Amino acid sequence: MCLYVHGMSMPGARSHGQLSISASSAPRDLLTDRPSHAGAWTAKVITLFPEAFPGVLGLSLVGKALAEGLWNLEAVDLRLFGAGKHRSVDDTPSGGGAGMVLRADVMGSAIRQACREVALPLVYLSPRGRHLDQAMVQRFSEGPGMVLISGRFEGLDQRVIDRFGIEEVSLGDFVMTGGEIAAQALIDAAVRLLPGVVGNAASIEGESFSNGLLEYPQYTRPATWEGRDIPDVLTSGDHQAVAKWRRQEAERLTRERRPDLWRAYSGKDP
Ligand SMILES: C[S@@+](CC[C@H](N)C(=O)[O-])C[C@H]1O[C@@H](n2cnc3c(N)ncnc32)[C@H](O)[C@@H]1O
Repeated sequence: MCLYVHGMSMPGARSHGQLSISASSAPRDLLTDRPSHAGAWTAKVITLFPEAFPGVLGLSLVGKALAEGLWNLEAVDLRLFGAGKHRSVDDTPSGGGAGMVLRADVMGSAIRQACREVALPLVYLSPRGRHLDQAMVQRFSEGPGMVLISGRFEGLDQRVIDRFGIEEVSLGDFVMTGGEIAAQALIDAAVRLLPGVVGNAASIEGESFSNGLLEYPQYTRPATWEGRDIPDVLTSGDHQAVAKWRRQEAERLTRERRPDLWRAYSGKDP
């Protein structure tokens, strides 16, 4: 949690180290130093590639919500905290080996800058982290926001993770070149749960994972496509029968595809 670092000295922190991303329909115009919307859910992303933001977060419902001030997005440019005249952010791994590691002093300064005003949970996107799931997303969306650290190279110096008690979150069992895509995935999933972002709240309620089940199959017009019909029950007008069919399909799919979810679900709600 950012609160952890309040009141500490901030060696190396520079006031120009943070780029604010706020409302605009043109993504490259979103990098401004305009003040954020006070009190709104806030995501701050520490990254070597601030230009990767807002990326997909500037599109569709989440982008519209950003433009309307329902949430704030700030990219903290790690390079601006770099050491020396070359603003170096990485160094060779202690003990030898391939690749480079993000320096603890540089990342520490960026974290303190990102945390200077508000207490937010600190998250490092990392393949070693706990797998992202809907319960975690819900927890983050119910808080004030988060500071996300996008790694690059071989990742962060372990001392930074330990010092700040940073939670590690993984997108899955695969390795990407950087944490920016993972950060955008987590932010997108959290923001769409904020009140007012998805117009029809009911469309969130029945979704996969929201009730411990995968979602039932979806259909829409035309009624027949390449010889395949929409199941009769969905066009019957019988709402109870539709609800029953959807429940059965959600249970069937979960049982077949996700025995882990099914065990948790059927143990809790036999
Ligand atoms: C090349 S990876 C570093 C991998 C690290 N050396 C390891 O083996 O665990 C660089 C950065 O990409 C991000 N990253 C890669 N895969 C990820 C995943 N599955 N989930 C979240 N972040 C990931 C992390 O921020 C990581 O620090």
